[in-house]
Amino acid sequence: MPLPTTALPPTLEWRDDALHLLDQTLLPNEIVVERQHDAQQVWHAIHQLKVRGAPAIGVAGAYGLCVAMQPHRALPAAAFRDKLGEQAAYLDSSRPTAVNLHWALQRMQASLGGRDDAGGEALYQALVDEAQAIHAEDVALCEGIGRHGLPLIRPGCGVLTHCNAGALATTGIGTATAPMYLAQRAGIPLRVYADETRPLLQGARLTSFELQRSGIDVTLITDNMAAATMQRGLVDLVIVGTDRVAANGDVANKIGTLGVAILARHFGIPFYVACPSSTLDLATPDGQRIVIEERGAEEVTSFGLRRTAPEGMQVRNPAFDVTPHALVSGFITERGLIEPPFDRQFAALFS
Ligand code: MRU
Repeated sequence: MPLPTTALPPTLEWRDDALHLLDQTLLPNEIVVERQHDAQQVWHAIHQLKVRGAPAIGVAGAYGLCVAMQPHRALPAAAFRDKLGEQAAYLDSSRPTAVNLHWALQRMQASLGGRDDAGGEALYQALVDEAQAIHAEDVALCEGIGRHGLPLIRPGCGVLTHCNAGALATTGIGTATAPMYLAQRAGIPLRVYADETRPLLQGARLTSFELQRSGIDVTLITDNMAAATMQRGLVDLVIVGTDRVAANGDVANKIGTLGVAILARHFGIPFYVACPSSTLDLATPDGQRIVIEERGAEEVTSFGLRRTAPEGMQVRNPAFDVTPHALVSGFITERGLIEPPFDRQFAALFS
């Protein structure tokens, strides 16, 4: 049954002193918003990908820490801080690859620095303020990425994207999708090819869903159709998101991104990575040091709820891969378009 054309609830929001998440595992079939009651529920929501996408899990982690600290508001400052460190480490363990989660949890803890005179209630309020600041910044960062990426979108061009680095992966207009949404606002026609993105189908369930709802011309392809789509001359540009960028410009993103980057190089198609500066991890020198999340075998041995592989099958299921910086044409950030050599440009812009 087609969904009503009513507006989609936000990816997440802080309402009535609580975190509310749009459950992305149910999309595109059901629109369900879930109130988060405690730290365990937030941990599972991030781990199960109810909320997913690097920027969105950063914001969810920040609000998740507020949820986790709510029952501890009566504690004196020192005990409140001890509990805060414990809860932040717990939430940080929900997913390892996207640096935004770690970044947001660190920033939340650092925001209480120098407030030794305050009690638990005041510290809790300061945490909520900081989470709301991170949230507001995320919305603005997406717009900035869109502005800097917009000149890449030529009228009538075909853009291929992988996974979902869209509005659903952020609290704004997405990262990879930001230039697409701004092109649409500006009346610039474009065609988007969304890779299905096995095993969890973020391209089919989320990217094609949100772009279609917004009226952008989007065509869904399976992952193994990307090469033929490029060979037919339908793709002028690739834009993907990322979960972590190392200091040398190596890019961790959804499994399959590396293949797309190799194809783009083969067919002479520019390959851009869109991300906010909070996704740059200058402390990690190169992509080989990025921890890649391994997920359960059942994601590979089934398609939706239907089992598609023999029982007892050996499976590999890395959720992300690393694209070497040599395959990246440039990074679209809120501070501008960054071209090689990335290590020097990052150091100059972000250190
Ligand atoms: O496993 P997911 O769905 O969280 O993976 C998301 C991605 O790989 C995105 O491309 C990345 O987080 C960037 S989102 C703006």
